[in-house]
Amino acid sequence: MASKQNADAPLALDEIVPTKDIYCRWATRADIPAIAKILMTNFLTFEFHDHFCPRRTERQEEFYLFVLARVRMFFVRPSIRMMVAEKLDVGVTGQKAEILGFAAWDAQGNENPINAEWTRESQGWLNTTEQKLADAEVLYHQHTRNTVFDYALFNQARQRLHDAYEHDTSFDNNLHLQFLMVKPEWQKGHGIGHRLLQWGLDVADKVKLPVVIESSLAGYNFYLRHGCRLLKMIRIDFVPEKAYDMPVVVYDPR
Ligand SMILES: CC(C)(COP(=O)(O)OP(=O)(O)OC[C@H]1O[C@@H](n2cnc3c(N)ncnc32)[C@H](O)[C@@H]1OP(=O)(O)O)[C@@H](O)C(=O)NCCC(=O)NCCS
Repeated sequence: MASKQNADAPLALDEIVPTKDIYCRWATRADIPAIAKILMTNFLTFEFHDHFCPRRTERQEEFYLFVLARVRMFFVRPSIRMMVAEKLDVGVTGQKAEILGFAAWDAQGNENPINAEWTRESQGWLNTTEQKLADAEVLYHQHTRNTVFDYALFNQARQRLHDAYEHDTSFDNNLHLQFLMVKPEWQKGHGIGHRLLQWGLDVADKVKLPVVIESSLAGYNFYLRHGCRLLKMIRIDFVPEKAYDMPVVVYDPR
């Protein structure tokens, strides 16, 4: 902004220079629709969802209900915090903030200090009630409204992925990156994914806990570039012609 600010010479509108800053902050409930939209856009092209929701492109409204219910459920889980990357334009017409990407960090394990802190913050009857309602919404969707998503196969796939690390005690306490998604038009080059991921890697170094990520094929090299290593490839082959190996990657704290 221009520095000329006194009562005699008020700031002329054309002297205000818009800023275009991207910053990260914790998500609020008001961000849930924007987060769900980013998730949905990315899920439409995800190889993983070809196995459980092959018709999601032509039935996007129904698929969105699934995505929205899951975002709500994750949002209120005591061990999870969502972080958004936001662009704030401050210009002559006021402020317009846009969410460009988000991450969902899940602090898992009973001896995880982050989990202890976040769970403590999520106590109280209102939070507990909200968590129950969000879980109920997912069940309600699954059993009454859903005709596009195969929850049974999805749960089998999740079990296969969890089997890759759940029996290894060195992962009993970890930071699990549940989601990391950037709006397609803002991917690669703006550093948004980098900033959202680096937050968790820095915390992992500080508390000496590993980070676990069930990676998309698109994200795999991105994670390797950030110091992660491949733990295991998990075969996802519920639709044989779409079979592929899904990487589970980990980051070992320094
Ligand atoms: C993968 C993803 C999160 C990366 O975030 P991003 O904002 O696009 O990446 P950034 O701009 O922060 O990239 C940081 C660096 O990694 C590189 N990079 C980004 N995506 C990459 C990829 N898929 N493979 C290799 N390098 C990649 C960038 O070129 C950049 O390199 P530089 O530092 O040399 O300039 C993002 O592209 C995305 O949302 N993809 C689709 C959804 C997805 O697959 N998410 C992962 C789910 S597990």
